[in-house]
Amino acid sequence: MYLRNAWYVAAWSRDIVDRPVARRMLDEPVVVFRTSDGTVVALEDRCPHRHLPLSMGQCVGQAIQCGYHGMVFDAGGQCIEVPSQGFVPPTARVRAYPAVERYGWVWVWMGEADRADPALIPDFHHLTDPGYAAVGKTNHVSAAYTLVTDNLLDLSHVGYVHTTTIGNAAFTEKGRLTHRRTDRGVVVSRFSPDVPPPPTYIKTGVLPIGKNIDRWQHIEFIAPCFVLIHVGGAEAGTGALDGRYDHGLNIWVINAMTPETATTTNYFWASARRHAIGDADADALFFNQVSEAFEEDRRVLEAQQAVLLTRDDSWAVALKADAGAIEARRMLERMIAREAAGEDLATSAVA
Ligand code: FES
Ligand SMILES: [Fe+2]
Repeated sequence: MYLRNAWYVAAWSRDIVDRPVARRMLDEPVVVFRTSDGTVVALEDRCPHRHLPLSMGQCVGQAIQCGYHGMVFDAGGQCIEVPSQGFVPPTARVRAYPAVERYGWVWVWMGEADRADPALIPDFHHLTDPGYAAVGKTNHVSAAYTLVTDNLLDLSHVGYVHTTTIGNAAFTEKGRLTHRRTDRGVVVSRFSPDVPPPPTYIKTGVLPIGKNIDRWQHIEFIAPCFVLIHVGGAEAGTGALDGRYDHGLNIWVINAMTPETATTTNYFWASARRHAIGDADADALFFNQVSEAFEEDRRVLEAQQAVLLTRDDSWAVALKADAGAIEARRMLERMIAREAAGEDLATSAVA
């Protein structure tokens, strides 16, 4: 069900400060904390003594102290102190997960530690590059991470689910759709020529008033659970359909769906732009519009998950627009099967 040898986003760096944070990831309890020298650490969230979550304890220097009988564990998960006795049992240790900070997120490697290579973290520089302005947050969604990925890969839904923000039916109906495989995923592209801009696009003030636009979407799935979206629009007939985007409205949406359990997800998202950097009103506009759109998605995803608790998740009816999502699902399933068979996917062609 999960790819183990992979990086997953555990938290925003800004949320890991001086207290331990509990996070269930791939159905495993993880505690994330920051040591006094600023290093982020991820450990199994369970004291080996009487099984209290370590996240209920406190950060002490370079270590974490259990909140029950005070055992102290270092960043490698080894117990280094037992306050009630001088002797530290050598078996008193918890699992340590490789953890790194990049692009303002804390990434945790959930598989074999010696395979953790930070070069495998997707390029999400949009989140922290000073040439962009990014806003985002974490949504807890009561739906499988794969349903969220499907949702992002098939944006034909924006014309129906998001009519108050980023969608209108013309966009979906006139869209020309293609998809292609990459080494680690799938890219779905849609061009909608000469369509009215949706409400959110109008509110940015970047596009000429009262004109139709050529609109594009490039949606890149990166296994196991990342989707990088580049969308936008430019005045119709000014080159966007040939791939010239710079003069138009460009938006990147960075999505990391970390499975919490089989049917719940911590969904980290951010919207990035290259215009109006440092403009608090633009920050608020993008944050609020994308938040609103994702609340609309949540209603769909959670209702869909509730039905899927009683039956298999399958495409009984597949539409043309599903091609990318189905390809992504198959790819992920093959990777999970190959990993279960003992292959090292990090060092071989992925799918
Ligand atoms: S349960 Fe953690 S020290 Fe006892
Ligand atoms: Fe959506």
